[in-house]
Amino acid sequence: MSKAANIILIGDGAIGSSYAFNCLTTGVGKSLGIIDVNRKRVQGDVEDLMDALPYVSQKNIYAANYEDCRYADIIVITAGVAQKPGETRLQLLQKNAAIITDVTKNIMASGFDGIILVASNPVDILTELVLKLSGLPRNRVLGSGTALDSARLRSAIGQRYNVDVRAVHGYIMGEHGDSEFPVWDYTTIGGQPIRDFVPANRLDQDLAAISEQVKTAAYSIIEQKGATFYGIAASLTRLTAAILNDDHAAFAMSVHLTGEYGLDDVSIGVPVILSGRGLDRIIELDLNPDDLKKLTDSAEILKQNLQSVYP
Ligand code: LAC
Repeated sequence: MSKAANIILIGDGAIGSSYAFNCLTTGVGKSLGIIDVNRKRVQGDVEDLMDALPYVSQKNIYAANYEDCRYADIIVITAGVAQKPGETRLQLLQKNAAIITDVTKNIMASGFDGIILVASNPVDILTELVLKLSGLPRNRVLGSGTALDSARLRSAIGQRYNVDVRAVHGYIMGEHGDSEFPVWDYTTIGGQPIRDFVPANRLDQDLAAISEQVKTAAYSIIEQKGATFYGIAASLTRLTAAILNDDHAAFAMSVHLTGEYGLDDVSIGVPVILSGRGLDRIIELDLNPDDLKKLTDSAEILKQNLQSVYP
């Protein structure tokens, strides 16, 4: 599928502007429009990013209006408030649900007919909210979900065992948040299951440490530098590229389930194949009973929280 590759970014904070810069320097998309309530900030970013154009692949960068969404192939939403030190993602729900509701209505009023990628937190619940409010089919409303956490998992394993991260595969599933979990049964290093790769006398302790490191990564970064942005921006750029290039690549991300894993009516992080049509297919791993329970419990948390903003 060939795409015109028009991206609209909604939300020009630390994550949004890092994403815009990353799209520019890695040649993702042909045009990039930026929308934010702070129009001055957008104009400043557009001017700043234009200064980089001679050094990167040519792109059209502009301060966009919601009317421009009509021509977008993909809209990336990073708008909303971010976590403060010690705050959970779920605590952002009330504020960000109101913002994302407005954003979604404005997008759909433009006549938009493309793919929406949500990154604002709590991302799983907001993805489900956008899906419901937009009326778009589920293959076209996706959340970054645990794509970032899965990248953190791979980095943590690669670093700990001194292996190129590209040889490490595995997923974090569930909520992008405190109830997420690593799927160790499907985590491999150079093709070998991690449980065989790690010496038996260190296994339990290592897996627990890696799991904790991934789950608390954002808390650690926020505590030290106030916000996370490069990791999520890189994840969003890669997900955007996979859609625009029709890559059929595999990621864990937040998608709306309709019976997969025994769950429905919830958007939650599961492995998928991502293509030009957005969600191409869901990969249904045969989870062991413990992991299936973790996923089910995580889904329950998300459903209950959604009810408080979308009864
Ligand atoms: C993080 C934020 C984006 O995990 O939720 O870095």
